[in-house]
Amino acid sequence: MTNVVNVWFKKSRPQNDGPAERASSFILLADSILKQSGDDTYVTGTLKPAIFKDLDYVVSTWSDGCFDLWEEANGVHFYTLIVMRKGLIHGANFATRNGDNTRASTYTTTANTLKTKIDTFWSSTYITVTQSLTGGVQKAGYDVSTLIAANSGSLADGFYTPGSDKILATAVVIESKFSSLYDINVNAPSYLLGTAIGRYPEDTYNGNGNGHKEWTLAGQVKVSSITLPFFKKFDTATVEGTVYKVGTAAFNAMTQNVALGANKFLSTVKNYALTNGSMSEQYERGSGKSTGARDLTWSHAALNSAARAKAGAPSA
Ligand SMILES: *[C@@H]1O[C@H](CO)[C@@H](O)[C@H](O)[C@H]1NC(C)=O
Repeated sequence: MTNVVNVWFKKSRPQNDGPAERASSFILLADSILKQSGDDTYVTGTLKPAIFKDLDYVVSTWSDGCFDLWEEANGVHFYTLIVMRKGLIHGANFATRNGDNTRASTYTTTANTLKTKIDTFWSSTYITVTQSLTGGVQKAGYDVSTLIAANSGSLADGFYTPGSDKILATAVVIESKFSSLYDINVNAPSYLLGTAIGRYPEDTYNGNGNGHKEWTLAGQVKVSSITLPFFKKFDTATVEGTVYKVGTAAFNAMTQNVALGANKFLSTVKNYALTNGSMSEQYERGSGKSTGARDLTWSHAALNSAARAKAGAPSA
């Protein structure tokens, strides 16, 4: 991910989520080209070397510190490791399909090592954002990049997917941090709007400077000690150990409340977007006015990912 601050903040390099994300995108592109035309000249000659170069780089650098997706903190980041794991798993399949078993095995081994490392970011109540910080913003560790990781970096394997326990628990902790922090939340113009959420509570940058489908497929969802605060928001009577089974009235009521809660977040985005539908980099926490880079691609891309996730299709 990039951020326009980079124009003058050139020192925020390296930013190692980029190569992993590019590799995942190029693999999707390669598969799509092969499916449509069957002509592998461009795939073999251009995309394949680029994919392997990026993923070889990930293998040799993942444990080094780098800048985070916000281009501010230098360290080892949950978000970066999640997108690296995704790139390597897709990359291992791609390497196998291309007859490179040595790479396939290296990518798989590194992805497994990353899985273990990623689990160490769990604090017992939420996912922390950065380890081994050597420079940049010192934060308490509540950061929406951990949630963005679930939308853009998870695979359909339950590991930090949007409906997984630790992501739900982190979402509810982060929302509670922001609900009292921003005036537009304290003085919300309508109860139909969800909480406006920033990148992280300590953020001062202003630009001028649902797991519902997952639960249905699983047949049920059980409230654990980790997710109790999340489910309590949507069913005040819930207790640890409650099981919501697909097809029951309790499951339907709970998921309807969760869907309503998710829609409120989208209503908030719509409420603060411009009347022509355009979204800037940010809206101001006090007034709700659009600020930062106007018509920002990332704001629109993030809304698309969120809408896809809501419709049951987090990015591939
Ligand atoms: C939407 O309107 C704003 C303010 O008038 C303008 O700056 C922006 O370029 C417009 N965006 C589009 C995509 O038309």
